[in-house]
Amino acid sequence: MQTLDLLISDGWSDYELLDSGVGRKLERFGAVTVVRPEAQALWNPRLPQQDWDSAHAVFEYQGKGENWREQRAHPAQWTMRYADLQFVARLTPFRHVGVFPEQAAQWDWASDLIRRRAKPRVLNLFAYTGLASVAAAQAGAQVTHLDASKAAVEWAKENQAACALPSGSIRWIIDDALKFVRREARRGVQYDGIIMDPPAFGRGTQGQVWQFSESFPMLLSECRQILSPNPLFVLITTYDIRASATMLYNTLSELMTGFAGSVTAGEQVLRETSAGRLLSTSIYARWSPDPEQ
Ligand SMILES: C[S@@+](CC[C@H](N)C(=O)[O-])C[C@H]1O[C@@H](n2cnc3c(N)ncnc32)[C@H](O)[C@@H]1O
Repeated sequence: MQTLDLLISDGWSDYELLDSGVGRKLERFGAVTVVRPEAQALWNPRLPQQDWDSAHAVFEYQGKGENWREQRAHPAQWTMRYADLQFVARLTPFRHVGVFPEQAAQWDWASDLIRRRAKPRVLNLFAYTGLASVAAAQAGAQVTHLDASKAAVEWAKENQAACALPSGSIRWIIDDALKFVRREARRGVQYDGIIMDPPAFGRGTQGQVWQFSESFPMLLSECRQILSPNPLFVLITTYDIRASATMLYNTLSELMTGFAGSVTAGEQVLRETSAGRLLSTSIYARWSPDPEQ
C-alpha cells in the first residue's frame, strides 16, 4: 500500500480554524465565530483567552445535554461562499453548522473529474446539506442526492437555490441508503461517480439501523452493481473514529478490482491560523481512473 495522505482544505476565505486546544476548537464561519468540542485537540491553545471568550456561541454541556450558549448576537442564518458555491449556514442543536469545511478539497477533486465528461451521473449518499451535490451539479454532473433526513434534504435544496442552479439539476431522494442502492441495482440504474459519507450510526426512513461495521460492507458490495462500466470516481469519507484510512483503502481497492485506476487514502485535515498546526477531522479513500482513460 502507498503511504497515507494528509488532505488539507486550505482554499477557504469564509471559513477559518482560528485556534484549537484543551479539547475545543475556535472557528470562524463567515463573520460568526464559534467554540465547539474537538476530541483530537489534546494540545494547548495559542490565542489569548479573550479571543475564545469573544466567540459568538459556544457548544457545550448545559445540564440537560449539549447545546449552544450564545455569547454575542449573530444572525440566525447567514450565507457562506467557497469558490463558486454559496450556501446557508446556521447553528444546529447537533453542533453542526451545515458545512464540513474539511470536505472542500474533495469537492474540488470531484469537480475536476466531472468536467472531463459530458453529464456524468453522480450519486451522493448520506448527503446531508448537499454541498458535494451542489458542487458536482455546478461542474456539470446529473446528481442524485440521498439522505434519510427530510430536514437535511430541505437544507440542501436551500443550498441549490443559493447557487442559482436550475431546480431540475439535482434529483432529491429521502430514503435509506442501502435500500435505495439495492433498488437501483435491481432496476439496472448505473452511476459514473459515487460519493458517500457514512456515519458511525444512523437510521433510515423506516427506522433501518445503519451501523458502520455491519452496514458499510453490504453497501459497498451493492455499489459494485450500480457502477457504470467506465467509472469516473468513487469517494468515501467518514467521521467514525473507530474506522481507519487503511481500512477504507482496502475496502475501496476491493470494490474497484478490475477497473484501471488507483486509490489514495488518508486524513482530511484543517490548518489552524494561530500556530499552523494540522487538525485531523475525518478520513477518506478515493478512486479515480488512470490519467490516459
Ligand atoms: C455526517 S452526515 C454527512 C455529512 C455530509 N456528507 C457533508 O460533508 O456535509 C451523515 C448523514 O447521513 C444521514 N443518514 C444517517 N443514516 C442514514 C441512512 N440509513 N440512510 C441515508 N442517510 C442516512 C444523516 O441524515 C446525515 O445527514
